[in-house]
Amino acid sequence: MGIQRVTVIGAGQMGSGIAQVAAQAGYRVQLHDLTEEQVEKGLAVISRNLSRQVEKGRFQQLEKEAILSRLDGATDLRKAAGEADIVVEAVVENMAVKADLFRQLDDVCPAHTILASNTSSLPITEIAAVTKRPEQVIGMHFMNPVPVMKLVEVIRGLATSDEVTQTVEALAKEMGKTPVEVNDFPGFVSNRILMPMINEAVYALYEGVAEKEAIDEVMKLGMNHPMGPLTLADFIGLDTCLSIMEILHEGFGDPKYRPCPLLRKYVKAGWLGRKTGRGFYVYE
Ligand code: CAA
Ligand code: NAD
Repeated sequence: MGIQRVTVIGAGQMGSGIAQVAAQAGYRVQLHDLTEEQVEKGLAVISRNLSRQVEKGRFQQLEKEAILSRLDGATDLRKAAGEADIVVEAVVENMAVKADLFRQLDDVCPAHTILASNTSSLPITEIAAVTKRPEQVIGMHFMNPVPVMKLVEVIRGLATSDEVTQTVEALAKEMGKTPVEVNDFPGFVSNRILMPMINEAVYALYEGVAEKEAIDEVMKLGMNHPMGPLTLADFIGLDTCLSIMEILHEGFGDPKYRPCPLLRKYVKAGWLGRKTGRGFYVYE
């Protein structure tokens, strides 16, 4: 199936990154969020990222303008997705919100449109089941920061067709990414392994094993991780980390996945990491 028009729902850190790489790959892109302000914020992040590339001499100014000209913002869902060949959803990690959105997308999108979710951990099969096109629903899990990270985890739901899987893998490659196919289990592969490590780092802080800087330094210098786990948690968003741990805990019913109470406390305080200016660390 030929993809020309890509719609991205959610103009937060992941949605804006996905919209950027899609426009860079030559697709016409619609970026949707609930408010004008969120859409403008997402578009501004993309513009800033592209300007940095121009300053580094990787793009000409003209190329930046061509990429931006392929990008439009919209708050009206029908306008954003009514002509899409594929929709990539990147809204909050919450099943009720995603299910409601996929119901609406099923309604406003043409029959051929593929509905992909960038969910970090939620079951694709369950998201697909709210639509009348479960064979066209798939997980397309980009990593943060999207313009830099090479992986796209491709998650097949129970009904996802081979054709849709092949189309999405080809699209990921066009975007300069490497798709890796996995099956539909809570957290898939990436977050089944990453998030318990982050949660354990929060437990180490909670139990006073070491200061936050020491925990991060041990993992950076000792294991050659580019960021320590607490810095990475702030980067991902503590709300997203907590949601993923809750989904692992509920999905497997195993106490080894219980979210650390300190993570819960930070989220309740609204300390969500970089995006709110404070998480384990404070950001200017
Ligand atoms: N958006 C776009 N580009 C960014 C960026 C951002 N937010 N942050 C950094 N970059 C770019 C920089 O412009 C720079 O580009 P060039 O090499 O082209 O100049 C490059 O990334 C390296 O940046 P820096 O030199 O500033 O910093 P760094 O070397 O420390 O790298 C990093 C930054 C790439 C984020 C690195 O720290 C890293 O890889 N961290 C770990 C990221 C990670 O683990 N991501 C996965 C999170 S889990 C996930 O995504 C799944 C989930 O469901 C939760
Ligand atoms: P974010 O909080 O930065 O952005 C979410 C955006 O979705 C916000 O702009 C919000 O206004 C918008 N939104 C919420 N409900 C909406 C709706 N009904 N319709 C349209 N827009 C809506 O979150 P994020 O970090 O970009 O995460 C988005 C998704 O990507 C989540 O499912 C998350 O699990 C997943 N993900 C996150 C990361 C990460 O490192 N943060 C990595 C991979 C995948």
